[in-house]
Amino acid sequence: MRTRDLAIKLAKMWGIDCDIVETAALLHDISGIIPNSERVIFALDNGIPVLVEEDNFPLIIHQKISKYIAENVFQIDNELILNAIECHTTLKDNPSIIDKIVFIADKLEWDRDQKPVYYDNVYTALTKISLDAGIEAYLNFVYKHRNEYAVIHPWLNDAFDYFNINYEEKDYISYIRSMVGHRNIILTGAIVIIQNSDGQILLQQRNTSAKGKWGLPGGLMEMGESMEENAVREVYEETGLTIDKDSLTFVGINSGKTSHLKLENGDEFYAVAVCYRTDKYRGKLKINDHESMDLQFFCLDNLPDAMVGSHRWFVEKIV
Ligand SMILES: [Fe+2]
Repeated sequence: MRTRDLAIKLAKMWGIDCDIVETAALLHDISGIIPNSERVIFALDNGIPVLVEEDNFPLIIHQKISKYIAENVFQIDNELILNAIECHTTLKDNPSIIDKIVFIADKLEWDRDQKPVYYDNVYTALTKISLDAGIEAYLNFVYKHRNEYAVIHPWLNDAFDYFNINYEEKDYISYIRSMVGHRNIILTGAIVIIQNSDGQILLQQRNTSAKGKWGLPGGLMEMGESMEENAVREVYEETGLTIDKDSLTFVGINSGKTSHLKLENGDEFYAVAVCYRTDKYRGKLKINDHESMDLQFFCLDNLPDAMVGSHRWFVEKIV
């Protein structure tokens, strides 16, 4: 019942048909009437495909059996309901919004005496950010603890891929934001002064924060990167140029009270920006539409007026 109540609350939050969500939430564990030891046989007898992981850990096949009972005993023919029941434990690739609501409501409210350890993080992300943020927070937790689970169902692996869950490697910002929401944090990043043979420096007209202003290429660090690797990757992503890591010389660090940022999406952070300089680069300038409106080399004595203040401060250090 708690799963149903939360599922309905979430459905109302996102304007989803409450009847569909309620039916799926009420029937999701209907297979509980079949003992665990008989589930695989029941599935085989009724033409439900059994995966190796389900054979090894029959508890997990209860989601498919619940779907079977909903369809054949309760005469449910709505695919949205049946699909949500079928993946309520593992989720799957490209889930519908009903799948997501029933899945996350089940994870938060299945009948237990204690709140699960991930409860607060997931609930906050879910109610303060978005449905996907809540699911990502939960999946990040499972991914981090994946070695402690009896099996990882292939559909869950598909869901990891679908939501880009791989906390050790990619998209540190999404990972950390899935846990802290928009709250104020400290983030580090690298920026680079790239000089051509005429001594001009490369500036990027920004398309994201401080839109329209000119700044140095660079961005925030991912997990496991060195500061120099951070610089090389960001320059490549934003300009198409490959800079030589060993050629980077240290220019300075900008940090402290004046480095506080609040983005349009509400994310707040203090930036710790490390600036390097190089004149060793190769490749052709290529504008990444998502990040830049324009890329141009400027003479040091003719910098654009609309320039990010801290970046001008760095450039003045090399003059
Ligand atoms: Fe279940």
